[in-house]
Amino acid sequence: MRAGELLVVKLGGSLITDKRKPLTLNREGLETAAEALARVARGRRLVVVHGGGSFGHYAVVQAGGSRERLVSDVSYWMSALNLEVVSALRAAGVPAVGLPPLAVARVDGGQLSLQRDVLEAALEDGTVPVTHGGLVLQDGRLEILSGDVLASEIAVKLAARTLAFLMDVDAVYTADPRSDPHARPLEVLKRSHLEAIRGGSSGIDVTGGILLKLREALRAAEAGVRVALGGVSELEAMVEGLKGKYTRVEP
Ligand SMILES: Nc1ncnc2c1ncn2[C@@H]1O[C@H](COP(=O)(O)OP(=O)(O)O)[C@@H](O)[C@H]1O
Ligand SMILES: [Mg+2]
Repeated sequence: MRAGELLVVKLGGSLITDKRKPLTLNREGLETAAEALARVARGRRLVVVHGGGSFGHYAVVQAGGSRERLVSDVSYWMSALNLEVVSALRAAGVPAVGLPPLAVARVDGGQLSLQRDVLEAALEDGTVPVTHGGLVLQDGRLEILSGDVLASEIAVKLAARTLAFLMDVDAVYTADPRSDPHARPLEVLKRSHLEAIRGGSSGIDVTGGILLKLREALRAAEAGVRVALGGVSELEAMVEGLKGKYTRVEP
């Protein structure tokens, strides 16, 4: 197998899109993230999973319960966003390969499983698979799988050294820092903290916002992955396990 430790990065939809504006890219946020990813990709194997932000979550809300619109619109807008992410990474010198979540994961009897061979083949060629939250086959239907869940599953099943969740905030706080002036950043997140943390998401988030993210982060940490959450500027510190302003997760 190709050498180098495996790093999985979840690129928050809050970072690469403007979650308050439908179908709007945050180009500056995306380009900054792509450059940071290019730096940490050196000497490592990297898998990127991005969220839906104002593309995916908006498409779900707009579908208003119509299966036809849900499947077609979510697929369309998430593929469009995926192409933007892949383009930004390629422009930063990263050999990115877009993979729809359908090609990577499925759910049978409620049990999530990975198409490991697809991811491993892409890594073996020295490329960087870039998948996303979105539609996967779930017990015979195309349903939405959260990018946070997918990122955590990939990190666990491929035995990643590190899983980093990049967000538009610099850490996990005791409450949403955007709406609560008393919110305090957490240096360490443990399962025992979960109940006390209050949160929602920035703008719309149909798959569960920050609390689902934290549960997935803990799940990966408990499986032996080094897990951190924070902003793009601290990505290198998160990946190297250095001190910095971000939240690390302790099992
Ligand atoms: N306790 C909290 N700590 C940190 N961020 C929080 C918290 N509660 C809510 N948030 C919000 O969660 C957002 C990140 O989660 P989410 O909107 O799901 O983003 P992503 O697109 O990265 O999945 C941040 O923009 C932040 O405003
Ligand atoms: Mg989210």
